[in-house]
Order: sequence, then structure tokens, then C-alpha cells
Amino acid sequence: PKEKDWIAQHLYLFQDFWYPSNFIEGVINFQKHFQAKDSDVIVATVPKSGTTWLKALTFAILNRQRFSSSHNHPLLTSNSHELVPPLELIFHVDNIQDKLSDLSNITEPRVFGTHVPFPSLPKSIKESNCKIVYICRNPFDTIVSLWIFANKNNPLNELTIEETLEKYCKGIVGFGPTWEHMLGYWKESIANPNKVLFLKYEELKEDINFYVKRVAEFLDCPFTEEEESNGVIENIINLCSFEKMKNLEVNKSGTVGRKYEKKYFFRKGEVGDWVNYFSPAMIEKLSKTMEEKLSGSGLSFKTSP
Ligand code: A3P
Repeated sequence: PKEKDWIAQHLYLFQDFWYPSNFIEGVINFQKHFQAKDSDVIVATVPKSGTTWLKALTFAILNRQRFSSSHNHPLLTSNSHELVPPLELIFHVDNIQDKLSDLSNITEPRVFGTHVPFPSLPKSIKESNCKIVYICRNPFDTIVSLWIFANKNNPLNELTIEETLEKYCKGIVGFGPTWEHMLGYWKESIANPNKVLFLKYEELKEDINFYVKRVAEFLDCPFTEEEESNGVIENIINLCSFEKMKNLEVNKSGTVGRKYEKKYFFRKGEVGDWVNYFSPAMIEKLSKTMEEKLSGSGLSFKTSP
């Protein structure tokens, strides 16, 4: 089945999830060929939920000894999607064997991103000891972020925000149904807390210091007392902050993949901006759908700062 998407692309249904046309081939190859190593870290995310931020944080946390002086840090000269590339884009190639040997030579721990839902991840990710750091965001802000991102990247986007919301509620959105995406990782994080760390954008905004430490502990590289007293955590928080990243030259031009302008990954970076876009009818529709889809799961979201 095929549906018109929010970036005026087609979406294809594959293993119960909707994929944008420019991702589908890479998703299939990734699932079939990727070989996880035990030391790998996978940053798995819902689109427009804080992927850019969590990739930067994870990279900075894991590599803090390699790049201890802050003036030559790779995050100052590379976009976080380059440092933590999406596996479905890596595998969007014809020559899989070359790609596999390139990947096997990357310095460990390797860090990759993905939007692929848990049930469709390759077997080797599920069966190895690699770790998954996951982030999602309250659907109100996610929809606004997505709709604006779609309009900026594609001025031909015909969907109104109301229509975008309708599709989102039906699950017809890139890497959606988003409910199933979140619930897949949510359930795995409960069943297997050493494998999946489940984070929410709102929580990181509220207490980033706590979550930087939490991610480091989860990845088996907790901060030492000495690091804490030397301001290593604060340096990471600052390096990855919205203002810092948005204003870097490297994030002002060029694209992620072939399609998405880097500068559009940085918009407002706040919790609760949806109040400027949602009508009462839209609030009712999304609240009702969330109640239907998430009730009983234990998963809930803050929607204001
Ligand atoms: P808004 O559109 O609400 O501003 P993703 O990285 O998954 O595409 O998500 C993009 C959203 O994260 C955008 O939200 C963007 O502004 C915000 N964002 C990007 N970098 C950030 C950072 N360093 N800290 C906090 N939020 C960030």
C-alpha cells in the first residue's frame, strides 16, 4: 500500500510500519545485512523527537576521553547526523559488501542512529549485547515540529496541520504508527532495561544533568568523581545545547542525506510550542487518540514546560 506523505513523498507499508520512499530500500538492506558488535550503541528515535540532540549527547559522552579538549571537538565541525549516521541511509547503497567492510573498520564503540521500529531491527542488534538509547517526545510538539520541518524542506507540501494530525492519528506518518514505535521500545525497555534506555524529550529538557549521567551509566561509562568536579558533564551539556549547535557554521548549510537541510533541524527546541498551532478540535482529537492508543501502557507525556 502507498500513501502520500507530509514531505510530499510516498510512504510504503512494510512490516506494519510506514516508510518514506527514500528510506525503504535502506531499511530492507539494513535489516538483512547489518552485523552488530557487542560494543555498538544505537540511538533509536522517533523523527522530530530530539534525534539531533541525543546523537550529539551520546557521541560526546562516549568519546569524552578521546576529545577532552573542547576546541577541537568533532561536534564543532560536524553535524551530529554525520558523526552518528542513520543505518537506513548507510544501507541505501548498491554495493553492500563494500559498505559492510567500511563499517567493520570504524573505531569502537561505533555509534549509529535509526528510526526503524524495534520489531523490525535486524536480529543481530536484538541478539548481541549492543545497547539502544531511545528518545521520543509528546505527540503534540512532535506533530508541530514535523509539519514545520516538512513545509520548510518542501514548499510543495500540500498538507495542512489538521490533515497532518489526521494522518498521524491514523498512524500514516514516516516510521509510524508512532504509537506502535514508542510502545515497541517502551515494552522492550521494561522487559530488558540493560538493553534499551527509554528517554523522553521533555525529561531531558527538564533535567539534562541527570540524564547525561543516566546515559553514561547505561552505556557502562559512568562519570568519575574527578570528571564531575572538573566540569566534564557541564562541558558536554554546553557543547550539545540547542543554542550552541544551532549557531555552528557546520549546522547552517548543507543537507542530511540528500533531502533534509541541516539548518531546519534546529527550530525552537522547546516544550509546549504546540499551543500556538492547535485548535480546540485538534486538541480533542489528539488527546482522545492518545488515550485510546496508550492507556494501560504506563507511557505518558508532559505537554507543557
Ligand atoms: P522543534 O521543531 O520543536 O524546535 P529531530 O532532531 O529528531 O529531528 O528533532 C528536531 C527537534 O529537536 C526540533 O524541535 C529542534 O529544534 C529540536 N532540537 C534540535 N537540536 C536540539 C538541541 N541541541 N537541544 C534541544 N532541542 C533540539
